[in-house]
Amino acid sequence: MEEQRKQVIFSAIQPSGTITLGNYLGALKNWVALQDEYDCIFSLADLHTITVRQDPAKFRKNALEAYALLLACGIDPQKSIFFIQSHVSAHAELAWVLNCYTQFGELSRMTQFKDKSAKHADNINAGLFAYPSLMAADILLYQADLVPVGADQKQHLELTRDIAERFNAAYSPTFTVPDGYIPKQGARVMSLQDPTSKMSKSDENANGFIAMLDSPDVIMKKFKRAVTDSDACVRYAEGKDGVNNLMGIYACVTGKTMDEIEREFEGRGYGDFKTAVGEAVVDHLRPIQERFSQYIADKAYLESCYRDGAARASRIANRTLSKVMKKIGFLPD
Ligand code: TYM
Repeated sequence: MEEQRKQVIFSAIQPSGTITLGNYLGALKNWVALQDEYDCIFSLADLHTITVRQDPAKFRKNALEAYALLLACGIDPQKSIFFIQSHVSAHAELAWVLNCYTQFGELSRMTQFKDKSAKHADNINAGLFAYPSLMAADILLYQADLVPVGADQKQHLELTRDIAERFNAAYSPTFTVPDGYIPKQGARVMSLQDPTSKMSKSDENANGFIAMLDSPDVIMKKFKRAVTDSDACVRYAEGKDGVNNLMGIYACVTGKTMDEIEREFEGRGYGDFKTAVGEAVVDHLRPIQERFSQYIADKAYLESCYRDGAARASRIANRTLSKVMKKIGFLPD
């Protein structure tokens, strides 16, 4: 009997400084869990990162650390392809092509572009604007069926689907039209200081986010300072954004349901609850932080890993790219 093809998963993360608990719970934790069941391809999206100006030495350091951290989270380079986007030139090439199949109006509507251009008003570059067509190229090069991401990437994914369908209709079926894979719990981890906005590594207030490499002390302090409400009751309800967020984080790292959490903290105050969330996060991150120290000390291993990843990714990506070039009518080289 013919063996059924496993579905293909693609996802990526930017190596722009600190990777947060939001990135981990919204995306990375799921990537790790999906590796046995799917053909997984994961990338450090460093081409995306230069849409905001980077200091070269810091950028290099961040990228290597992010690569080591993802291995430490459990990305297994034997099971999955794990590479650095700028090492596979097909991404930039297909992005250019897809730019020509993406409308100005579509890109103008992207909320992330609007947010980022408000934040970096002195550097609203063309790359920031065209960012979603690079993201579409990332996904479509690998004929991905599913893309595990947090809720903030939903709009970019919808545009990717539109671009794929447009290209397929103009020529013939070329790209798999991907679906998002957004977790029920953890899809939108909120800031600990302002629970109406998402936890973000670019938050100026470091108390708003938990960095994956924060020390246990710092993690405990940040949770103790987390904004809650005056209700003094641990329950999941509308209007209790701070508590809902903490409950969501606790649920993700312990596997408990909201009902179980409400029962656990019945009659207890927020002080106890925040301490429990902090301790659960510290326990969850401890083995990841330990593995990170080992990986980052072994540069030769990291290099061999990302080189091998890029070679494997290039083979798949170039196959799609040459199909695309041929269909459009470029002369073969
Ligand atoms: P990036 O680097 O901002 O974030 C990486 C992943 O983390 C998720 N995420 C969150 N999830 C829950 N709560 C939060 N507070 C939170 N913050 C971030 C994001 O949804 C994402 O899944 N453009 C992408 C990277 C990218 C990509 C791709 C993703 C480039 N090419 C192709 C998927 C497929 C980005 O900037 O993610």
